[in-house]
Amino acid sequence: MANTILVGAQWGDEGKGKIIDVLTEKADVVIRTQGGNNAGHTVFIKGQKYVLHLVPSGILRKNKTCVIGNGVVVDPVSLVEEMEVLRRLGVKLEGHLFVSETAHMVLPYHRELDAQREVLKGKNKIGTTKRGIGPAYGDKAARTGLRLLDLIHAERFKKQLELKIKENNSILKAFGAKPLSFKKIHESYRAAGDYLRPFVTNTVVLLHKALRRGDDMLFEGAQGTFLDIDHGTYPYVTSSNTTAGGACTGSGIAPHRIDRVVGVMKAYTTRVGEGPLPSENMEIADMLHGMGREFGATTGRPRRCGWFDAVATRHATMVNGIDDFAVTNVDGLDSVEVIKVCVAYRDGAKTYDYVPSDIEVLSRCQPVYVEFPGWKIPTHEAKKWKDLPVKTRQYLKAIAELSGANLAIASVGPGREQTIFV
Ligand code: IMP
Ligand code: MG
Repeated sequence: MANTILVGAQWGDEGKGKIIDVLTEKADVVIRTQGGNNAGHTVFIKGQKYVLHLVPSGILRKNKTCVIGNGVVVDPVSLVEEMEVLRRLGVKLEGHLFVSETAHMVLPYHRELDAQREVLKGKNKIGTTKRGIGPAYGDKAARTGLRLLDLIHAERFKKQLELKIKENNSILKAFGAKPLSFKKIHESYRAAGDYLRPFVTNTVVLLHKALRRGDDMLFEGAQGTFLDIDHGTYPYVTSSNTTAGGACTGSGIAPHRIDRVVGVMKAYTTRVGEGPLPSENMEIADMLHGMGREFGATTGRPRRCGWFDAVATRHATMVNGIDDFAVTNVDGLDSVEVIKVCVAYRDGAKTYDYVPSDIEVLSRCQPVYVEFPGWKIPTHEAKKWKDLPVKTRQYLKAIAELSGANLAIASVGPGREQTIFV
């Protein structure tokens, strides 16, 4: 399967966790390269639900090497909690999970600042997951962050943390927020540091050894293209490069080592948090929520929903170099009479076939739709491409073509077996 980057082609929550889990069967190494525990990947195996935030979902298969790369921001305390849940479910971590020593840490003041900045923004809030992601990447870019390297050196960490708490408490004070206790944070982070020490390593060297062995690598993207700090709907984005390039900088694997980019997209569109969503539609949102679908894995928030937006996914093909698409949640449209697909945006007299950069322009854009007949047949039991209704096949082929890449996978439910290779 060679070295594959998997990215979200929309606004996140495309069902990447499940597709990763399926593709992992043929991979040797699975790597997270950006984001933090703002991500939530849900995987169902034999009826057991696993929600992963930081640990690559490859961990759910035996004998895979799973890496949390340098580009990820790690909250060590919540990583330990996640590892403990997995351990209790019988997942083996030792010798399978490795965490980059140069990954930056998320600390409690990042979370507190994240929350305070959102309050300050009022109605212009981003709708973040409040996991401290933006402030942690902010510290990284400002060269004032703490890394896992620091955490596993007890004395160094103590000194650095003391300074950071002092600095951040004065900022929190200016916000009118409560100061944080050095002692409490130090204790819990030190304990997490001791727990994590055996897993923390130079993952760049580890990955290059694996490359030399000829191992196949799978880069597990988190969030989606339009949440990318450079290419997304700024400022309504997350603080990392969620697009394909982030996989290289976030791991230390060079671009020419990559063989394939897979884009995951839903058969419709969703978004959690604020910011423009041109094909947003209340009817489809009500329908999906009524089916018990589209509630966030990390925050439980109901996701905003809309019709499939081919302008956005075509743009995603451009910035990620997507070769193949995996279309998920096909069964979500099973009962729809007439399915709409957004093929252009209109702003007054101007028409766009790409996503305009100016958030004010994008917010004004109206979708231009084409219509497809619904198939009105349950698809969740389909095993092969030929099992799908003709109208479903036509719809899937059409949205892949409009998005500018090949259709490789269709997913008709959360289970591993509900995956159709086209
Ligand atoms: P942050 O990453 O918590 O700073 O949130 C910034 C924006 O990205 C918000 O709109 C979040 O809802 C969104 N976001 C962050 N992580 C995810 C994810 O894993 N899935 C979907 N949306 C996300
Ligand atoms: Mg998610």
